[in-house]
Amino acid sequence: MRHLCLEVVSEEHRALSAMLQSIGLLLMQARRERRRPDFDVLRAMLLYIDEFPERLHHPKEQALLFPRVAARCPELAPVLERLTRDHADGERAIRRLEHAMLAYEVLGEPRRADFERQLEAYTRFYLEHMALEEAEILPAARRCLEPADWQVLDTAFAANLDPLTGHEATQDYQPLFSKILMTAPAPVGLGPGPAPAA
Ligand SMILES: [Fe+2]
Ligand SMILES: [Fe+2]
Repeated sequence: MRHLCLEVVSEEHRALSAMLQSIGLLLMQARRERRRPDFDVLRAMLLYIDEFPERLHHPKEQALLFPRVAARCPELAPVLERLTRDHADGERAIRRLEHAMLAYEVLGEPRRADFERQLEAYTRFYLEHMALEEAEILPAARRCLEPADWQVLDTAFAANLDPLTGHEATQDYQPLFSKILMTAPAPVGLGPGPAPAA
């Protein structure tokens, strides 16, 4: 049976993975062409992560999905604890990453490696976090939740707003998404991909 709530979680995971992959490509291209990356779009991409995955996706999981899974599948308590810790760590990590990007933009080359290292660590951390949710929480929810749970969850998740999962961006976010879509490399944007290897 299809559940909107689980589809939204998976779609948002795919959007975040694509964004992280795109940021990595943007940096790789700049490094290969020995130039500074386009900081305007890089800033927009990090802002996207901060505004959508961090402020919409995690709170939805934590306030709505996790408590119901915890109630119906008590054996998952240690996994839910780790995922909840990750959410708090993620909030701090995106701040550090935004700071590292600013330091690279303003102070230049000496701060490039630090930013790249932090981005790599952040990407790894998030991919692992999402993989754990997909492997443990979503199947458990499918198995254990009851119709009353789904009714609440599906209604709440229908108010999903992440424009990278195919929903119209609200007016405030239009400039952010136009910038990302027109400039960032695939898979999220229409900007140039990496040059073919010589
Ligand atoms: Fe999560
Ligand atoms: Fe998630």
